[in-house]
Amino acid sequence: MAEREGLLIDQAYEEVKKYKDIVQQDPYRLSYHLMPPVGLLNDPNGLIQYKGVYHVFYQWNPFETAHGAKFWGHYSSMDMVHWKEDPIALAPIEWYEISGCYSGSALESDGKLYLFYTGNVKLEDGIRETYQCLAVSSDGIHFEKKGPILRLPEGYTAHFRDPKVWKKNGRWYMIIGAQTLSEKGAAVLFTSNDLYHWDELGPIAGSGMNGLENFGYMWECPDLIQLNGKDILLVSPQGLEAEGYLYNNLFQSGYFIGKLDYEAVQFQHGSFTELDRGFDFYAPQTFTDESGRTILYGWMGITDESEPYQPTIRNKWLHALTIPRELEFRNDTVFQKPVEELKKLRTDELSMENGNHTSLDGVCTAELILDFVQFGEGIFEVNFRHEAYLRYDSLKKEISLHRRNVKDEQMEKRVCCIDSLSKLHIFMDHSSLEIFINDGQEVFTARYFPTPNVKTISFNGNVVFTLKKWNLESD
Ligand code: FRU
Repeated sequence: MAEREGLLIDQAYEEVKKYKDIVQQDPYRLSYHLMPPVGLLNDPNGLIQYKGVYHVFYQWNPFETAHGAKFWGHYSSMDMVHWKEDPIALAPIEWYEISGCYSGSALESDGKLYLFYTGNVKLEDGIRETYQCLAVSSDGIHFEKKGPILRLPEGYTAHFRDPKVWKKNGRWYMIIGAQTLSEKGAAVLFTSNDLYHWDELGPIAGSGMNGLENFGYMWECPDLIQLNGKDILLVSPQGLEAEGYLYNNLFQSGYFIGKLDYEAVQFQHGSFTELDRGFDFYAPQTFTDESGRTILYGWMGITDESEPYQPTIRNKWLHALTIPRELEFRNDTVFQKPVEELKKLRTDELSMENGNHTSLDGVCTAELILDFVQFGEGIFEVNFRHEAYLRYDSLKKEISLHRRNVKDEQMEKRVCCIDSLSKLHIFMDHSSLEIFINDGQEVFTARYFPTPNVKTISFNGNVVFTLKKWNLESD
C-alpha cells in the first residue's frame, strides 16, 4: 500500500476510535442492520458470496455525516446475520478517484475477487471526471487497484457511474448509469472478454427510449438480473415528478421487466414499478449467492432535504442498509422476502390466535407476522411506538405508512393500492421499520425515531388475525 493511502486509512480509523463511544450509546443505533462505524453510509456495493463468505461493501464517508469523498467500507459474514468488520477495501487516494470511490459491483473470476467501481473526480473549477476502475483481490480482504479500465464515452456527461458486471454466454457485460448530453437518464451496456478491455454496445434503456417518455435526468445504480427467464433492469432514476401516490420520494428505485437482446442491443420492456413504497430506500443492488438465490440490499436512506436533520447525526453516524431480501418473480411482480437466515435472530416467541384489538409492550427490535383470518370493512391500523402507523383501508383498498418527518416534525405518509391484505411481515429495529405486505408483493421501508422508552405496539380494527412475534437479538 502506498504511504499516502496508509495515512488516509489511518485517519479514517482515528475517526472510528474517537467517536466509538458516542456512536455506540446512541439509542437509535440499530441492532441487526449494517451501519457505518462512524460517519455516513450510503449505497451497498460489491455484494458477493466469494469462497463461501458473504461480502457487503458500502459507500462510506468516515469524516463527516454528510456526502463527500467516499471510501468502500467492508463487512463479511458466513450467514448474512453475524458480521465481521473487515479492513477498508478502497480509499480515495489516486488521481482517478480522488473525490470518491463511488458505487460498483463485485464478481469472481479464476478464483479472484474483482471490484468494479467509479472513480469520481471533481476538479477545482467545478468540472467533473469519471473513470470506471478495477481492483482485484485473492483473499477478499486486500485489494490491488488496477486503475481505470473504461473512460467516458461520447454522448454522455460526467454523470456516468455505478458499473454492475455479470457473465452471459461466456462474455462479460457491464451496465452503467448515465446522463446523456441532452440530460436524460440512461443505462448503457458494455462488453469484454477479459475484464480489462471494454467495448461500448450502447444504451439499452433510458428517458425517451423504448416508449418511455420523460423519465429523469440521471439514472443511478443500474442492475440487470434474470428471474424466471425474464430480464429485469433495476435502476434508480433521478428527476421523476410525483404522480398521485407514485414517485413521492425525491428519488426512486424500481424495475423494468423485459427481454434483453444481447446481439441487437435492445431491451424491450414494460413500465416502471417502484421496489419500495416507504420513505427510505434507494440504490439497491443484488447478487446471486452460491445457493442460486437473488438477494437484494438497499440503502435505507436517501439524499433529500431532510437528510441533514436525522437525529443520529448528533451522535456522529448516519444511515444503514436494509435487511437482505430474496427476490422472486411471479404475477409480473418482483416479490421481496427476508432471507431465511434472519430466523437465527429470533428469541422469545409469542403467538396469539384470534388477535384483534391488542397492544403489546416491550416491542422494539422485533419481527412480527400477522395472518389475517377475517377482514371486516373499514380501517385496520398498526401503531408503532406512538411514532409511526400503518393503515389499511379495505374500502379504498389503500395501504399507507405514516411517520414523523425529521425536518418539519409533521406526520407524512406514503400510500399504495393493494387488492386485499392477507399478511404482514414486519421487521422493527430501534429506529427502522421494514414492512412486507402479502409475502413481499409490496414493501414499506422507513426510518423512524420513537422516544426510546416507548415500546408499545397496538393493533386496531375490525379484523381477526393470528400473530407471531419474536424479539430479534444480534449477539
Ligand atoms: C447513489 C449514488 C451513486 C454514486 C454514489 C456516491 O446514491 O449517488 O450514483 O456512485 O451514490 O456515493
